[in-house]
Amino acid sequence: MHQIVKVVGVGGSSRAGSSAEQALRVVLDAAQRRGASVQLIGGPELAMPLYDPRNGASTPQARQLLSAIAGADGLVLASPAYHGGISGLVKNALDYVEELNKDIRPYFSERPVGCVAVADGWQGAVSTLAALRDVTHALRGWPTSLGAAINTSAARFSPAGVCEDTRVQGQLEEIAAQVVEFARMRVAAAAASR
Ligand SMILES: Cc1cc2nc3c(=O)[nH]c(=O)nc-3n(C[C@H](O)[C@H](O)[C@H](O)COP(=O)(O)O)c2cc1C
Repeated sequence: MHQIVKVVGVGGSSRAGSSAEQALRVVLDAAQRRGASVQLIGGPELAMPLYDPRNGASTPQARQLLSAIAGADGLVLASPAYHGGISGLVKNALDYVEELNKDIRPYFSERPVGCVAVADGWQGAVSTLAALRDVTHALRGWPTSLGAAINTSAARFSPAGVCEDTRVQGQLEEIAAQVVEFARMRVAAAAASR
């Protein structure tokens, strides 16, 4: 019997149903099929004031984001490429994670993090994926061995919630598998050491 782990997905753009949010949904659906409980915090929910360390988590959205991340066993981040890097909306949400610096598991520590970048071309997709993985390292998370760099001019998402490019769909499902497997191992190891 597997432990139920919680996987939280964060990302998208201010447009509900953006490509990044659709990609995130594919990963979370696959994680759910593997027995995880999932929560998506999409682009519109990330519309928060610019993070200011002097104010902390001053809005309900920021508090909801931080509480979801603090309670997660695994994470998935998805950002569109904006000028070759993480969009301001997603990066601002990640800046708020500074508020978890004194958590029992500070920032993303002890947790696997799947990273997904979506762009209109390969160059932006690849550089944004690398940036998401760098931020994950800075936040003490463990980027999964596979990340996804998606070029939406070559791979579209159907209304049924799958990527029409079967290779991309497979990559997103593999990221889910890696997040869930790593999360289960960490949860089991923590329970064994108590
Ligand atoms: C401000 C801005 C900057 C962008 N910069 C890039 C870029 O550097 N490289 C790229 O491939 N696509 C770039 N794009 C395209 C987005 O990455 C692409 O539209 C997005 O992945 C699709 O998102 P959507 O579903 O929300 O439209 C940019 C889009 C915007 C709005």
